Amino acid sequence: MGGEPAKWVSMVTARTPTNIAVIKYWGKRDETLILPINDSISVTLDPNHLCTTTTVSVSPSFDQDRMWLNGKEISLQGGRFQSCLREIRARAQDVEDEKKGIKIKKEDWQNLHLHIASYNNFPTAAGLASSAAGLACLVFSLAKLMNLKEDNSQLSAIARQGSGSACRSLYGGFVKWIMGKEDNGSDSLAVQLADEKHWDELVIIIAVVSARQKETSSTSGMRDTVETSALIQHRAKEVVPKRIIQMEDAIQKRDFPSFARLACTDSNQFHAVCLDTYPPIFYMNDTSHRQDNQLCREMESCRRNTSDNVQVAYTFDAGPNAVMIARNRKTAALLLQRLLYNFPPQSDTDLDSYIIGDKSILQDAGINDMKDVEGLAPPPEIKDNILIQKSKGDVSYFICTRPGGGPVVLADETQALLNPLTGLPK
Ligand code: ADE
Repeated sequence: MGGEPAKWVSMVTARTPTNIAVIKYWGKRDETLILPINDSISVTLDPNHLCTTTTVSVSPSFDQDRMWLNGKEISLQGGRFQSCLREIRARAQDVEDEKKGIKIKKEDWQNLHLHIASYNNFPTAAGLASSAAGLACLVFSLAKLMNLKEDNSQLSAIARQGSGSACRSLYGGFVKWIMGKEDNGSDSLAVQLADEKHWDELVIIIAVVSARQKETSSTSGMRDTVETSALIQHRAKEVVPKRIIQMEDAIQKRDFPSFARLACTDSNQFHAVCLDTYPPIFYMNDTSHRQDNQLCREMESCRRNTSDNVQVAYTFDAGPNAVMIARNRKTAALLLQRLLYNFPPQSDTDLDSYIIGDKSILQDAGINDMKDVEGLAPPPEIKDNILIQKSKGDVSYFICTRPGGGPVVLADETQALLNPLTGLPK
């Protein structure tokens, strides 16, 4: 896009990760402030594989706030954007850049307009928490542009008002969203439990099952659950508080069997609560259930053999995608072999676009091309005569990733999404 050069444009570009909850957030006690009915814990996913990049800019030449998402202009009128913009502007500080001739007093921010461009490096409709990464990136980049004094935990309480799970994307590694007690939400924020280096053996494989827009939005799903499910109260008051303590302990000790048991049972209970909602909510589809069955069978056989031999955890969010967490690279390679055996790509799909992210897991699995996929040996349960239906094309693609770092500012102007002279999308 072209446009006249502006008087001056000040801008910041940042990159923010997405996250996957291993103790789930489901149900609000305040819909406007987005206050949850229980604490939750997540793993931040490596932004080298899944991330949002956002450029925010300000100029006296801009005549209104504007935003472009993945290259298309979108409205900023929604409550979630307005809450974040209002909260950030209220905390803005003086900004001075002598070289560029920029001098902004903190009271000026109320009258200056913003241009925002954001890009998700994964399909927005794939059910991969794009709004979590997106709102976290918006708040983080605006906080840098407006020179806020708040730390990431305080910023997380602002991001929370844009999208609940966005608050957990303000940190890398392992993150807890504390539900808080205050009516104004000031103590409902994210804290880091451990950074991404603490447990870097873990490998995360996501099966993107369908890129269709999900049928029940989380917002209306949660509302229906809180209004109609009896089980949700038991979950929020009795089950989750104990699981949070146990999960923090499992993460601290890198105790994989406990981590896996907690993550899997919590995912199961989340879907049970959805089923207990009237009318019931089904987020998993046939492909998810087939993966779930396969994973449960493997876990059950591990459990029967020895109680601490569990190698893979799974969790399903409010959508059909399976998120699998392998104990280490060796088990991730074995898991990938099984997944490719059971869920092979369609004949016109190349391996390079079927497995994205950290492709080195493929090499560990000894898979270099489609011939290797076709030559994969059947997993042991086939020998045990349990029928496995091969499901070509049911998985759109797999993402291999790991725990990753938190938000960062990208100083290199070539990575900006807005033109530094005009403040319009490049
Ligand atoms: N929703 C989905 N992706 C987003 C993004 N990058 N920024 C803001 N909202 C979003």
